[in-house]
Amino acid sequence: EKGGYDHFMMKEIMEQPRSVADCLRGRVIADQMHVKLGGIRHKMKDLMNANRIIIAACGTSWHAGLVAEYIIEEFTRIPVEVEYASEFRYRNPIIREDDVLIAISQSGETADTLAAIELAKSKGATILGVCNVVGSSIARSSDEGAYTHAGPEIGVASTKAFTAQLTVLTTMALMIAKEKQTLPEETLHKLLVDLESIPEKIAEALKCEEEIKKISEMYKDAQNFLYLGRGYNFPVALEGALKLKEISYIHAEGYPAAEMKHGPIALIDEEMPVAFIATKDSSYEKIVSNIQEVKARKGKVIAIVTKGDTLIPSMVDHAIEVPDVHEALMPMVSVIPLQLLSYYIAVLRGCDVDQPRNLAKSVTVE
Ligand code: F6R
Repeated sequence: EKGGYDHFMMKEIMEQPRSVADCLRGRVIADQMHVKLGGIRHKMKDLMNANRIIIAACGTSWHAGLVAEYIIEEFTRIPVEVEYASEFRYRNPIIREDDVLIAISQSGETADTLAAIELAKSKGATILGVCNVVGSSIARSSDEGAYTHAGPEIGVASTKAFTAQLTVLTTMALMIAKEKQTLPEETLHKLLVDLESIPEKIAEALKCEEEIKKISEMYKDAQNFLYLGRGYNFPVALEGALKLKEISYIHAEGYPAAEMKHGPIALIDEEMPVAFIATKDSSYEKIVSNIQEVKARKGKVIAIVTKGDTLIPSMVDHAIEVPDVHEALMPMVSVIPLQLLSYYIAVLRGCDVDQPRNLAKSVTVE
């Protein structure tokens, strides 16, 4: 049942080339400029003409929402807001009939996310669900939606559901962009080609496993961890930190790298490991300076870099390469080493990675 692995979490991490491929099947064919989510048909007009898109979710699904915000705004120019479902449902938010609410949930049973849907529905908004569990409560209470098709996720820490959520949300953004013609045809084609290549890119990223094992040995006794990223990789920093804290019980925080100067930099000394998600994208120069700032204070830096980069590897303690892909799609690839890092550190600390203390797979109470 664990496919030969010691834990479901590892099986699910390793499964991602397949789960993302399943998620893309029939939905994206780059050479035919085909990009379509069959589950969103009747509401496609509402989505295209939305005044605003509101994304409501919790935990890892909320992190996927943050990446989607950047992607949807960049490619479709529709304003997007991302809300913790638990805050949204209780704060009398402004919701209009021409808003579209996208609820993201692996289990489809998260109580707060379900309540956010009911609230938005009562104000007349269109509801789209992005769920993994077929027939789940959130899937059923949405007007339409798209399943992530990642297969059952058993490990409490969400891994393959996250990459599948990003796959669906990227596909959705490109489907809108195609209909609204908000992207030049060439750019759209290039993005579709890159999206189709994500399963192989993830497979390549997974090859860092042995290196991550070694790094995990060195940092397994750390008390704290900082994760920093910019742009599309900022939510990946949040996700890396969440993965580590929930299964290894090491205190970890994720921040946008530039926010470091506004407080967290005070934490940095030779005892502080800092994971930078520093792939070659439009914020590359900026993150290079952030790395320098950490090194100047003797922090230990683990950097996720684009294959072939030589500058950052020369500056840091450990560099982990991932293959290059369009920056908007990079989170699906750059999160992989961080999933492995949290897994190996937790295993070395003797933690129950599939069933961490105090956590349930679906949070059906508020
Ligand atoms: C993190 C994790 C949780 C869930 C959150 C939302 O690894 O598993 O943070 O992401 O409870 O759950 P769903 O997506 O089922 O609504």
